[in-house]
Amino acid sequence: MNAATAALPRAPIPVIIDTDPGIDDTLALLLALRSPELDVRGIAISYGNTTVENAHRNCVEILRRAGRRLTLGVSARRPLKRALAVALETHGPTGLGLAPVPAPGVILDFVKPLDRLLADQAEPVTLVTLGPVTGLALALRREPAVVRRTVKRHLAMIGNLRAAGNTTRYAEFNAWCDPEALAEVLRAELPTELVGLDVTRKLLLTSGEIDRLARADDELERWLHAALRFYLDFHREHERLDGCVINDVLPIAELIAPDTLTFEPLRLAVDVEDGEPRGRTRVDPNGARVRMATGVRADVAHRLLVERVLTTLAPAAAGRER
Ligand code: BDR
Ligand code: CA
Repeated sequence: MNAATAALPRAPIPVIIDTDPGIDDTLALLLALRSPELDVRGIAISYGNTTVENAHRNCVEILRRAGRRLTLGVSARRPLKRALAVALETHGPTGLGLAPVPAPGVILDFVKPLDRLLADQAEPVTLVTLGPVTGLALALRREPAVVRRTVKRHLAMIGNLRAAGNTTRYAEFNAWCDPEALAEVLRAELPTELVGLDVTRKLLLTSGEIDRLARADDELERWLHAALRFYLDFHREHERLDGCVINDVLPIAELIAPDTLTFEPLRLAVDVEDGEPRGRTRVDPNGARVRMATGVRADVAHRLLVERVLTTLAPAAAGRER
């Protein structure tokens, strides 16, 4: 690349996000929506952290507070085979901790599924999945050609290799929710890149940072404080951590600043049997070819989040604090 081409601004990356908001999903969505490097074309809502009705309501509320209108779809209401289990302890009964939200209750039967959102795209997109991959597995069953034509890159917050699980000793939540769906997605060998707990556990908001959001001038940041303090209590009790892991921010940060993560090609399998190993991801010589994030510059992702979403935490704002 010569100096002239290096100086050219990149065209915004077309992105579709499949998400289950969810407290860290909310930060990830706001970062994506506030980043000129990305062109968010649509959002598909999944069950996961909460029910699909709550997650849809939460996404509508996030968009309203961000002042944005976007096409919303519904990717999945429940796992392929497993019983629906949501993350009440982690994200609270609404999915957004203690942040006030309107009542749910929209009938979602006629909302577009993920394969329709993808089929509507005139050009290939990056698909970012921030929840269980049930919606993508269903899209692959219904419209494999559409998925293969449209998804030029799939970045998924899912799985773990060396890091401890966060749902069982072995398994990460999104993988645990629907291991059969993950197995189908892996088998499809899309250009899938996994951003799992090995790297996301290094991206934290501290309790001090979360406390400072309570005094933010910006109403959205005070609303986020109400969500995050619930998430913090969960991490204190269950992870013995005086801060919280904001997993879903990382794939979005990587799209904005492509040197945030380093990936290794490997062959990956997921355990689908019942019991503790359910949802465990592991290297297997016969597994699917994927790339998995093994290195992270967490400071890059943290800085992006502070500059674009949690601006009260920016060093320049410290002097203005009441
Ligand atoms: C993942 O599970 C959910 O609790 C988070 O939103 C994130 O997507 C982390 O294991
Ligand atoms: Ca999520």
